[in-house]
Amino acid sequence: MVEASAFAISMGAFLALTMVALHFAKGTERVIPDDIAEEVLEQRASTVPEIDFPEPSNRAIGGGGGAAAAVGGGEGAEGELEEGGAEEASGPGDIPEDEVEYFEIEFAKEGETIEVANNETLLEAGEDEGWDLPYACRQGQCVSCGGQVADGPSEDYIEHDNQQMLDDNEISEGYTLTCVAYPRGEFTLETNETP
Ligand code: FES
Repeated sequence: MVEASAFAISMGAFLALTMVALHFAKGTERVIPDDIAEEVLEQRASTVPEIDFPEPSNRAIGGGGGAAAAVGGGEGAEGELEEGGAEEASGPGDIPEDEVEYFEIEFAKEGETIEVANNETLLEAGEDEGWDLPYACRQGQCVSCGGQVADGPSEDYIEHDNQQMLDDNEISEGYTLTCVAYPRGEFTLETNETP
């Protein structure tokens, strides 16, 4: 009986010591990689088969279609520009020689009446006579070359090629910009007159 008790005590002591030893024993530390995300991504990537996405055809159907439309629009715009250019090319001064008409224009201050072709500006016609007529831009964008038709509204006698300075009232008072003014009838012109 004494032997059994001694054995039990020694077993108890052994278990107690074992528990204490386990309690103080250093556990195995879990090692966390620096960048786990990258490793996980690589692992996942290796499990996904490579797929060739049909990107070019996608573009052709979707965004590419839009791009194609944009290109188409560009072509359209070019076409319009070309048409605009063609219109520009057929301005009031672009009358072919075999269709040219001449009108007698009296330059009042110069004291002469001259024939001016309907594809020639009043300014050019006067300069051809050697007259020192005023001008600056020669594009209808100032009033330096201004003149006045004595016989009525200037556009009853003149076709302007894109004049940008005279308003309707000034036109009806006979004012004209001689650098872009092509005769369409006979009249008397006062040069160097501005509104
Ligand atoms: S010179 Fe400028 S409008 Fe004629």
